[in-house]
Amino acid sequence: MSTAAPVKLGVLISGEGTNLQAMIDAVARGELCADLRVVIANRAEAGGLRRAERARIPCEVISHRDFTTREDFDRALVRALQSHEVELVACAGFMRLLSPVMLRAFPNRILNIHPALCPAFPGVDAVRQALAYGARFTGCTVFFVTEGVDDGPVIIQAVVPILPEDDEASLAARIHAEEHRIYPYAIRLYQEGRLEVRGRKVLIRDYPPAASVALINPRP
Ligand code: GAR
Repeated sequence: MSTAAPVKLGVLISGEGTNLQAMIDAVARGELCADLRVVIANRAEAGGLRRAERARIPCEVISHRDFTTREDFDRALVRALQSHEVELVACAGFMRLLSPVMLRAFPNRILNIHPALCPAFPGVDAVRQALAYGARFTGCTVFFVTEGVDDGPVIIQAVVPILPEDDEASLAARIHAEEHRIYPYAIRLYQEGRLEVRGRKVLIRDYPPAASVALINPRP
């Protein structure tokens, strides 16, 4: 475990919050040194709010429907995050595009996860898109948020095979399992001060030994 201070984390969600749960569990296991300051949902029905409550993390609901512009919605997000002294923002199934208002308030301090190997299959329905395309591999990506859709500098990716018998549910489950491993790890790299954004690229200090073998599916 790093000796750096715990990262003060704010998590934005819209849905089930299984990635939020992975962060909560990683902190509980001592694998992630983070202080979960607040969970903010843009939907009161977001299942992840119950997970936050169970873990005794402060929660807020800020509905985008209460604002006429994206910027006004983002200003409310910024106010809430700053009032909880958040340093790093993790979008975890947060289905809203962020405007420059948020990006300026947290420069290179907003992460997101996408269920595909960026830049493939951006936007919604990434799992369905990969199946419909007939790809042999897909996966998930944690990246720094920019103004574009799922196209910021990449921190970490996991590759997941697509099997002949897969449907959307089975493939989504396989991707989710990898998301739950790589998202807490990406936050840990940030907390340890090992990430540096240089243009499109993210440099990682003390890069761990990387796999250098090709993945082939189906294997010859
Ligand atoms: C995750 O699979 C995440 O990659 C996806 O939403 C899901 C949220 O699951 N995000 C996107 O598609 C962003 N474009 P969760 O609420 O169980 O963490």
